[in-house]
Amino acid sequence: MNHFLDIDRTDPAALRAMLDQAAAMKAARAGRPRGARDDEQPLQGRMVALIFEKPSTRTRVSFDVGVRQMGGESLVLSGGEMQLGHGESIADTARVLSRYVDLVMIRTFQEAALHDLAAHASVPVINGLTDRSHPCQIMADLLTYEEHRGPVTGRKVVWAGDGNNVCASFIQAAAAFGFAFTFTGPEAHEPDPEIVAAARGRGARIEIERDPQTAVAGADLVVTDTWVSMHDGAESRAARHAALSPYRVNEALMARARPDALFMHCLPAHRGEEATDAVLDGPQSVIFDEAENRLHAQKAIMRWCLDV
Ligand code: CP
Ligand code: NVA
Repeated sequence: MNHFLDIDRTDPAALRAMLDQAAAMKAARAGRPRGARDDEQPLQGRMVALIFEKPSTRTRVSFDVGVRQMGGESLVLSGGEMQLGHGESIADTARVLSRYVDLVMIRTFQEAALHDLAAHASVPVINGLTDRSHPCQIMADLLTYEEHRGPVTGRKVVWAGDGNNVCASFIQAAAAFGFAFTFTGPEAHEPDPEIVAAARGRGARIEIERDPQTAVAGADLVVTDTWVSMHDGAESRAARHAALSPYRVNEALMARARPDALFMHCLPAHRGEEATDAVLDGPQSVIFDEAENRLHAQKAIMRWCLDV
């Protein structure tokens, strides 16, 4: 079963093939209206369930549109409106949904819920973000990097700020795609040491550098994300801001990177907090290409899951 649960649970050759297919599918429909069907309709007759237990704009719309462009049908479901949110088990939900649909994407809290769903589903499951990882985002980000700058292999990626779920998927991708990764942020917000150790064990060069100026030197790509993720308690907001504000990405920090470095943010952005408007809207920023590429990358992920 081709579940897409995490970057490090997917064969690197398959990941590479997905990025190449995404780029080809994007090129093939260039200039067409967003709602136009693709020439190929690999999801014809397929039903996809998209389950959200947390808010979403990009993931929700890009999966839904992607399914339709490929000729399939989709159901967008909110966890709270399902029996799942009222005591029905993940395992039973998985068994039931498998009788109705061909593919399930879920955005949820605990990673264990995702794995439980996959273990009990008889159809493929895609991780649309958990507290621990966000692999679809990183596929879109790598597609975006390569579109602008060519192969990501051998490049230096610097993550500034909170070592969160998106950061974790980037670290896993460093091992799969062969780029160097430096995290810069406060000790209390470092990425999960298990994820770092696993990536190093697979040969990735992962560095932790407390000083943001030093970290960003020679970067080909600078990435950040919100300081307060959806799974972080609102009560921790003030303390997180105080700890993370030295890692705000501003023009002075970007100036330390390579002159042709790109800037990424998965969005939604909290403008003026983790990154300034000047960076988010500046010449090195590719944030809206990243958002668009969620669509193209996920279409290739769905095709891989369904082997179509
Ligand atoms: N980047 C991302 O996953 O955005 P949404 O939360 O809007 O889906
Ligand atoms: N780290 C953020 C990503 C949102 C797409 C969160 O989990 O809220």
